[in-house]
Amino acid sequence: MTGNEIRKQYLDYMNENGHAVIPSAALVPENDPTTLFTGSGMQPLVPYLLGEKHPKGTRLANSQKCFRAEDIEEVGDNRHTTFFEMLGNWSLGDYFKADQIPWFYNFLVDKAGLDPERIYVTAFQGDESAGIPRDTTSVEIWQGLFSEKGVSKGIAEIGSEEDGGNIGMGAGERIFYYDASKNWWSRAGKPADMPVGEIGGPDTEVFYDFGTEHDPKWGEHCHPNCDCGRFLEIGNSVFMEYLKTDKGFEKLPEQNVDFGGGLERIAAAANDDGDMFKIDLLWKVIEQIQTLSGKKYKDNTEAFRVITDHIRGAVFMIGDGINPSNTEQGYFVRRLLRRAVRYADILEIPAGKMTDIAESVIKIYGQHYGNLTDRSEEINTAIASEEEQFRQTLVKGLKQFNKISLQLHVETKVVDGKKVIDKSVDPVRKKSINAQNAFDLFTTYGFPIELTVEIAKEKGLVVDTKGFEILMTEHKAKSRAGAEQKFKGGLADNSEKVVQYHTTTHLMLAALRHFLGEHIHQAGSNITGDRLRFDFTHPEKVDRETLDKIEAWVNMAVETGGKVTIDMMSKDDAESDTTVEGSFWDRYPDQVKVYTITGGDNTIFSRELCGGPHVEGLEQIKGKFKIKKEESSSAGVRRIKAVLID
Ligand code: ALA
Repeated sequence: MTGNEIRKQYLDYMNENGHAVIPSAALVPENDPTTLFTGSGMQPLVPYLLGEKHPKGTRLANSQKCFRAEDIEEVGDNRHTTFFEMLGNWSLGDYFKADQIPWFYNFLVDKAGLDPERIYVTAFQGDESAGIPRDTTSVEIWQGLFSEKGVSKGIAEIGSEEDGGNIGMGAGERIFYYDASKNWWSRAGKPADMPVGEIGGPDTEVFYDFGTEHDPKWGEHCHPNCDCGRFLEIGNSVFMEYLKTDKGFEKLPEQNVDFGGGLERIAAAANDDGDMFKIDLLWKVIEQIQTLSGKKYKDNTEAFRVITDHIRGAVFMIGDGINPSNTEQGYFVRRLLRRAVRYADILEIPAGKMTDIAESVIKIYGQHYGNLTDRSEEINTAIASEEEQFRQTLVKGLKQFNKISLQLHVETKVVDGKKVIDKSVDPVRKKSINAQNAFDLFTTYGFPIELTVEIAKEKGLVVDTKGFEILMTEHKAKSRAGAEQKFKGGLADNSEKVVQYHTTTHLMLAALRHFLGEHIHQAGSNITGDRLRFDFTHPEKVDRETLDKIEAWVNMAVETGGKVTIDMMSKDDAESDTTVEGSFWDRYPDQVKVYTITGGDNTIFSRELCGGPHVEGLEQIKGKFKIKKEESSSAGVRRIKAVLID
């Protein structure tokens, strides 16, 4: 079965079982400045798992686009990728274990065609200190299912991953109890690591056995959670029923299910090949790289995998409106593309071919993600221009690299934000690139620090990355920008201001369209408690005179003291209503919220598709609206930074 077929089969199967299939949320979480990327299917659904009503009901399913930036350097083996799709289904206080476990198992065996003999499962052992009991219910359900299929159903008591290596698995054992480090899920990890207010619960995971030989590097014996590569986790059903409070764990008012399973992993199991890159979704891209390079995948697996993963990630990011840049999410797109170019050079792929690879991604994924096909021109333009720009800087940067004078490397540590020599470590007798040089390579030549480190490594050099970080922090503090800043604010203490900025952004977009024309749409938005930042489609600079008019218009609207109202409507109705402004329509579910801002004098200032949140009355917007900066963001896209000043 192909990846596209598995995705479809799963969504159809869940639909038959009463689930509304909702679209994937964007890769950049909306209204959540605490995290850069969507990393799991449940992330966009947290408000609903906490009890808010979802417009599509209590049974939901989708395939969610996810990106895990921390895995960039890991890509190259047979299973790590940065971008992946997570198949998910959720019960919002509806069904529980007795439905969830058989559904997933039957899907794997009856729909995806996996051999029941090769499926192993784990369950939660219980956590006495947190007062949470062992999950015997799930285990009983599993035993019933295994009996039906006529496979063994022995139970083993494991504990931690390390215990697994010591204990191993006996004949006939198929169900394994692990502790909270393995069979408990929350966004923050195990019960002890969860902050007050976070939700979590025990989970039961399913593993596929590829039957490869155990590698004792990972422990004496093999077991499902061993990292040797024999077993691959292909799905996780979380029974989300606990809330951490300052008095300990309490049951949530409803019992929820949060299921997530890696599409690519399930496809690899269906393919019975532990190399995830052999599944059709990725293999089509590999074939294209074979054609372009004239080289074989089997002789160059690492380079092929890096290029495939990175171009796919970049295509999906740009498809969601994130263009390569030097800050925040855009920085990761830049890193992906630049790393892909470097690996393409290793394979001697001619310059200018990154878009051919991108095309192969769009071709296979566009069948499900229509936004990729719709935006293929923008995607290709952004990739082509990033490749070209990088090749120019690469030549100059490499020359500069060779000019850098090298010094004997001394180990340093950071104390109170200052770098000091770590006298406890002998000077490392390797030549090093100092922090200032690494910083110049970044600012002048566009070398991400990771690239400098990689090239240095090839030349047997080290880089003073700690010193580089200090310079970067100073640089960011000076320009008052960058991700750091964004995290510092924190949602909690700034939430009121953030909400004010959200509504102000709607007014500003209305003003932009009023003064500059209806071709203007949102291309991106990023709000903190200190400012709004807004990208919009417009081909040229906006002069100061017009910016002044826009400011005055927004301030005038706020002064009327009007109100903000919400209408729920079908996406089709909203999209065909010409008074409703919106972009990224495909990111929204079938039922959408439209926010209308009506002035105190009954003028309708703005109607816009949005997920919220917004102020209820315009008098809640405190301060005067001021546009601080208008600049280019990427080709055909301008960026405004603006504030509310007291
Ligand atoms: N949210 C769960 C996970 O990411 C399903 O594993």
